[in-house]
Amino acid sequence: MKVDLGRDQPWHRLVAARPWLRMDATEGLCFDGAPLARLARAHGTPAWVYSASLLRGRLATLQGALAAGGVRADIRYAVKANDHLAVLTILRAGGAGADVTSAGEFGRARAAGIAPAQMVYSGVGKRDDEIEQALAAEIGQINVESAEELPVIAAIARRLGVVAPVALRVNPDIAAGGHDKISTGRAADKFGIDYDQAAALFRHAASLDGIVAVGFSTHIGSQIFAPAPFEAAYRRVLALVDGLAQEGFSLRRLDLGGGFGIPYDDGPGFALEAYAAMVARLMAGRDLELLIEPGRWLAGPAGILLTGVTRVKRTAQGRFVVLDAGMNDLLRPALYDAHHGAVPVSSAAAAGIGASATLVGPVCESSDRFGIYALPELGAGAAIAILDTGAYGAVMSSVYNGRPLAAQILLDGGRDHVIRARQSVPDLWQGEIVPDGLG
Ligand code: LLP
Repeated sequence: MKVDLGRDQPWHRLVAARPWLRMDATEGLCFDGAPLARLARAHGTPAWVYSASLLRGRLATLQGALAAGGVRADIRYAVKANDHLAVLTILRAGGAGADVTSAGEFGRARAAGIAPAQMVYSGVGKRDDEIEQALAAEIGQINVESAEELPVIAAIARRLGVVAPVALRVNPDIAAGGHDKISTGRAADKFGIDYDQAAALFRHAASLDGIVAVGFSTHIGSQIFAPAPFEAAYRRVLALVDGLAQEGFSLRRLDLGGGFGIPYDDGPGFALEAYAAMVARLMAGRDLELLIEPGRWLAGPAGILLTGVTRVKRTAQGRFVVLDAGMNDLLRPALYDAHHGAVPVSSAAAAGIGASATLVGPVCESSDRFGIYALPELGAGAAIAILDTGAYGAVMSSVYNGRPLAAQILLDGGRDHVIRARQSVPDLWQGEIVPDGLG
């Protein structure tokens, strides 16, 4: 039952904009049908809660929108967004491959059953052993980030007696992305090959033993909503493809990167249909295999951070609601000034009149602050859901201030599975060695 409580409250708009959330008059806030109050009692807080059906549904929606727009593109999920084995397994079962960026992500993706042939290896600092491991496993594609990296990949491939399938990552010099720190496609950013150098490097790559140059890749940033910056970047890359075609090079693949935005408020989402139409228009008449590398769009809305109120503190400046989750759990507000929606879990609490409150964590840093919210009175013990934290949430957690990693819960088929037990305090120093004689 959808209750008509607090209709003018900001949380109501957040819930109304997300069909997977529901405020039930008795059970309170439900995520994918599960009452979060019950989950908080059963598993404690803070806890990350993910929905398997949302993950599956979002992947299917993306695949459907591309297909409906006439785009044939294989999905290489950006593992960095949420690398839990259960998440990777769900997306693999739905037909996604992986975009990985380290031996750790490569290992995780393999452990989740993703074949190396369905993987792309990205990253400005791939170590020799990482390149070797990927080539030995017959990775589907390595994205070359620099003129300096190319001969290293070629030499390792020759030593192994294999041919490395590479795409050159082009820096198209385009500003895009929701925040300075998540823009990657400007000339001054560390990513990719200078646009003016890319064609020459492709010719060189095509001449090297141990390399098969399959095409180009580009990734201009994250949290982008409009098709326009993507179109500008893709057009620049296609100009390279056309120039090389005139010289007789036939490129067979383009990796279009990720970066599709999600609304963290109640605003409109990424223009998926317009994006698909744009890609279809640009690629019409070309025989190019396409890859895309979405991370946030698939995983972000499929997770929440369930947190408890430890203390409500009043100062001359106002009300601080001190949560048991902090910047060590969810770093995005501290790092990018990100503002995630926050909804009280109890319907009784949610019915109260909203007033300004600053949500903060317990960490001894002023930047441990989720932001200013209009929230009703909340006592110690109340629970709050911090929304859209399925991507770049748990993966960016640390144990700073001696705070064990939070539990992770997966909702699937009416059940809640603990997919990562809450770390214990002794877990924090597991692996540390105190040499004899120190005291
Ligand atoms: N491909 C490459 C090469 C990337 O570097 C990234 C993200 C993606 C794909 C996926 O981008 P997405 O579709 O998720 O936007 N921690 C930041 C986001 C950093 C993104 C880094 N690269 C945040 O919390 O906003």
